[in-house]
Amino acid sequence: MCGIVGYIGFRRADQVIISALKRLEYRGYDSWGVAVKHGNSLEIIKRVGAIGDVENYSLAEGNVGIGHTRWATHGKPSEINAHPHTDCNNQIAVVHNGIISNFQSLKEELESRGHKFSSETDTEVIAHLIEEEYRGDLKEAVMKAVERLRGSYAIVVMHAETEELVAARYKSPLVIGVGDGEWFIASDVPAVLDYTNRVIYLEDGDVAKLWNDGFTIWNNGKEVERRVETVPWSIEDAEKGGYEHFMLKEIHENPRVVEETLLEYLEDDIKIDSRIFAGISDILFVACGTSFHACLVGKYLIEGLTGIPVRVEYASEFNYSNPPLSRTLVVGITQSGETADTLEAMRKAKKLGMRVLAITNVLGSTATRVADHVIYTRAGPEIGVAATKTFIAQLIVLYLIAAKISSLPPTEIEELLEELRNIPQKIRQILDREDEISSISNTFAGYENMMYVGRGIGYPVALEGALKLKEISYIHAEGYPAGELKHGPFALLGEKTPVVACVVRDKTYESMLGNIKEIKARESPVIAVADEDDEEIEKFVDYVIRTPSTIPLLTPLTYSVALQLFAYHIARIRGCEIDKPRNLAKSVTVE
Ligand code: AGP
Repeated sequence: MCGIVGYIGFRRADQVIISALKRLEYRGYDSWGVAVKHGNSLEIIKRVGAIGDVENYSLAEGNVGIGHTRWATHGKPSEINAHPHTDCNNQIAVVHNGIISNFQSLKEELESRGHKFSSETDTEVIAHLIEEEYRGDLKEAVMKAVERLRGSYAIVVMHAETEELVAARYKSPLVIGVGDGEWFIASDVPAVLDYTNRVIYLEDGDVAKLWNDGFTIWNNGKEVERRVETVPWSIEDAEKGGYEHFMLKEIHENPRVVEETLLEYLEDDIKIDSRIFAGISDILFVACGTSFHACLVGKYLIEGLTGIPVRVEYASEFNYSNPPLSRTLVVGITQSGETADTLEAMRKAKKLGMRVLAITNVLGSTATRVADHVIYTRAGPEIGVAATKTFIAQLIVLYLIAAKISSLPPTEIEELLEELRNIPQKIRQILDREDEISSISNTFAGYENMMYVGRGIGYPVALEGALKLKEISYIHAEGYPAGELKHGPFALLGEKTPVVACVVRDKTYESMLGNIKEIKARESPVIAVADEDDEEIEKFVDYVIRTPSTIPLLTPLTYSVALQLFAYHIARIRGCEIDKPRNLAKSVTVE
């Protein structure tokens, strides 16, 4: 995820900014850049790769500057695409986090008025918009320019001729660091903690101007007061945003990840290229682990909404199969884009002459180079080994694909999309109930075996819930289709084997209740994950993890977040190394 730093004060801006950017390295980045004001011009450096030693870089002396670590979203990692971006005359420099969803139309409009663009980024339009609005007052120009932006942004802007920084925030965080005679602005607290622990969190719609004597904040054109807070965390704590583990932080990022992925692909229409799916006879998903579970949800969605036949194979097994040659679209899902088994399966599909689509979270990853087409999830880098927010982002992309190629009446699809837009808020409600989930986790943290069951779309949710639990808590956990229990796993049931039942209120509901009765008859404690409107369920089970009601098709989104929290708290109570579980790696680059 990108990082922003700005500085104005009495120190050398280049040294402060580069060392502050290094404090944001844990967030992941592929390129970086710094701009410093020197006399009446801007000196800018941009580099691809890691920053390395601060001492290696020295820009012209100056006390005002901005910097950025970029995690590519629009345009490949390159010096040209790295921030800061400038206007036509290199007088205005901008760093930006977020996504400008209307950048294409703004770019065309600006080009028609003679603006020349040098990068592929959405950010560059901001510099050109500010240039058009600039009449000697940078803050006024920024205020006018941001009115044109759709999407999300945290920006910091500087001008070659003025000693000031102007920042604006909408749906992407920005914090002012308050020093003694010096001022910082950053996307994240760790960037400023070496210099000050007094911060002001900007709010949506805020525009701030920082100059040598202080700062002023406006919202909706009116000056506003914001409280100065003292950060009680160490730098290490702050990297995790105050959360105990990256995994927990990433679970809490789920609502924003859904918003960002929807912003990217859903406006009036679904912005996914339908040519990817033109003329296909069927779809074959290949993936591993959590991404494989996303594929299983995808099968359910695509077959249900389009009638197109879908197969799902473990990537590691596809390499031994002999798929029939047809007009199959092969879809490799991999958050890292570097999983060796998935890459091998995609390469094999290409050799067989199949069209290949990659769904990945990492721009420029190997999967994007192997595939014919790419759709990116917008989850930002995930540091915890257990996939959480990237799984939810994969599901969002799959909902959008299924809706895009659906053969259902448009009104039904519109209902689905409307409810999809409500999902961030529903996930926030689940996160607000974390204490309830944690107290249920407390009851089950001492068990050594657990089963997770589901039917229909609840089945892959059960598989993913079990995978999350086993990888971070080391409890042996199995996911099963609820109807399969009686064909073997019943032998394992009993009071020492709790069962988590993913109960969806669709055509599977009655059968699930029947299965739960069978499980209870064998004395296993049962925890249901269920919709809050389900009044029946508590009569059948011992515990209920309730999630805000939604349409059955969308329950993988709500139930999975609840199960991520359930697994996380069990692992925490057991004292496990949650972010780096034993024997596991974030990116599995061997077959
Ligand atoms: C998920 O929590 C695991 N860490 C693992 O199963 C992972 O999903 C799998 O290795 C696939 O990774 P990918 O999405 O990067 O290809």
